[in-house]
Amino acid sequence: MTASPKKLHIKTFGCQMNAYDSERMAEALAPAGFELTEAMGDADLVILNTCHIREKAAEKVYSELGRVRKSKDARKAQGRDTMVAVAGCVAQAEGEEIIARAPVVDIVVGPQSLHRLADLVAEAASTGKRSVETEFPADEKFAALPQRTTGKRQTSAFVTVQEGCDKFCTFCVVPYTRGAEYSRGPDEIVAEVERLAARGVREVTLLGQNVNAYHGGADGGSWQLARLLQRLAEIPQIARLRFTTSHPRDMDDDLIALFGDEPKLMPYLHLPYQSGSDRILAAMNRKHTAEEYEALIARIRAARPDLALSTDIIVGFPGETDADFEDTLALARRVGFAQAFSFRYSARPGTPAANLEGQVPEAVKKERLAVLQALLEESRHAFDRETVGRRLPVLFEAKGRKPGQITGRSPYLQAVHVEGPEALIGHIAEVDISAAGPNSLTGVMKTEFEWREPVQAAV
Ligand code: 5AD
Ligand code: SF4
Repeated sequence: MTASPKKLHIKTFGCQMNAYDSERMAEALAPAGFELTEAMGDADLVILNTCHIREKAAEKVYSELGRVRKSKDARKAQGRDTMVAVAGCVAQAEGEEIIARAPVVDIVVGPQSLHRLADLVAEAASTGKRSVETEFPADEKFAALPQRTTGKRQTSAFVTVQEGCDKFCTFCVVPYTRGAEYSRGPDEIVAEVERLAARGVREVTLLGQNVNAYHGGADGGSWQLARLLQRLAEIPQIARLRFTTSHPRDMDDDLIALFGDEPKLMPYLHLPYQSGSDRILAAMNRKHTAEEYEALIARIRAARPDLALSTDIIVGFPGETDADFEDTLALARRVGFAQAFSFRYSARPGTPAANLEGQVPEAVKKERLAVLQALLEESRHAFDRETVGRRLPVLFEAKGRKPGQITGRSPYLQAVHVEGPEALIGHIAEVDISAAGPNSLTGVMKTEFEWREPVQAAV
């Protein structure tokens, strides 16, 4: 008789890098016999993979831990044990504090120590001791994680190529929670993408907090992001490449040129500008002006005229006046973003901006955010409407919600719903875009394909 597999439940908060880390944690725990479950109540091990970037992050984690405790108590009543781990950036920032405040937690593990997770779980199981692991040996982490083998079949995958950040924007916790900038070696990344390609992945998004600062290679970093992308484009099964998140100051000439030269690099760029006011940009330590940002966009658009742009914006940074905010709106209007993420400034303990004079009242931030988001929504719809009537290659990823429908992504990352056979999932087909809805496009399949109706059972 074989022992029934142990169950693992991971709840992921925050960014795509956390989503990637969650996948890797599941893979690291698979050899120890853990299988993923969607239901927390079934889980022998519950992991909260946390995010610290914005307000009340720690409070959210503690309240989520309240729910975890209920589940643990209910299982205990049935004679079943539950181990609980807190991972991610809140784990890094709070460390021992979590152990002190939340008796339900057995393990606290920072993002750079994930490769230790399986050992920590085994140790906790055998000794019953609670542990905190928040060291920063990033170079060990990737080498020590198992090769990517588990997980469902997917068309599109994330691959973390760079972690941490040395930019120290005054509002941001990342340099403290994720640590100094670290790039993985190109060979290791190429090998990982080749393995993903062999498993059917067609699109890869390279991830990093500051991905275009990538500088890998044993010789001290001669591999910039452009060279890495070019190398990955040589892998035949990989049809599409993307990367996120970039800093305007690290958009070098090679990377800009690649948007024009490499057809596998998708015409989509996430480039935060944070504020349209030079005074606020200086206080944020962004080290660029609004004009420099726009000039950069003009250069990338010259290389790739159909480039779709996405951005991050913060409203209500300390000292932001109505005039500063108007500058932020004006820049958004001029650029015409296809997608945008906007936030109310939240003072993060330990960051320089948290101590600045002139903190903006919450009510003012809320009002500004509403105005900005209305503009960004309109801009997104305008971009979507412009694609109606065009023929676009769509990479199909999944069945649609309606029967007979399949769903994929345009080069500009728009969701596209089309009637078509499931056999096209994992493939690219040409679609005539016929309509733009609130969150997606619909279209008509144009590519000819071999496809037979499934045989209906005779009645
Ligand atoms: N307050 C509000 N937004 C923030 N971001 C980062 N730190 C803060 C903060 N303290 C936003 C930035 C960043 C995105 C990931 O989160 O816009 O680009
Ligand atoms: Fe944070 Fe991005 Fe600035 Fe780095 S570049 S400090 S990750 S906002």
